[in-house]
Amino acid sequence: MRQIVYISTAAPDLGRDDVSQVLDASARNNPGRGITGFLVYNGQNFLQLIEGPEESLSNLMAELARDPRHSGIVRLEDHAIGQRACSDWVMKSLVLTDDIATREANLAKLLPAGIDQQIRRTILNFAALN
Ligand SMILES: Cc1cc2nc3c(=O)[nH]c(=O)nc-3n(C[C@H](O)[C@H](O)[C@H](O)COP(=O)(O)O)c2cc1C
Repeated sequence: MRQIVYISTAAPDLGRDDVSQVLDASARNNPGRGITGFLVYNGQNFLQLIEGPEESLSNLMAELARDPRHSGIVRLEDHAIGQRACSDWVMKSLVLTDDIATREANLAKLLPAGIDQQIRRTILNFAALN
């Protein structure tokens, strides 16, 4: 099994409906592909953690690269894992709507316990941007 964390830049005209549609597609497709994870959106950028079988993740990354709703995908993490950090989450949405000062604390509570400490730090730093 593999885990990937990437960041990307949302399309300039992206709206809430687009994010809902992304989550709908995830709910539709991820269970059959054995993919779990979460998606953080701060209004300008996405950070997504996806984990699951090697082939499922490669296929999803190829789809993501073609998806016009975002661009500039940068992988922050890409490694083999023994067990999932987000086994209960088909694709949990962590939308950052609070002011920056409280975001980090709120997100810290939501992130799963099984997540690597360094990745956790990266995600919390992302939450403080913008
Ligand atoms: C930031 C972002 C994250 C996405 N995450 C997923 C995902 O976890 N699973 C998924 O199936 N599609 C995801 N998508 C959508 C895919 O790029 C693609 O549109 C979708 O898989 C097509 O599904 P469909 O053929 O069922 O409509 C994401 C799109 C964006 C922009």
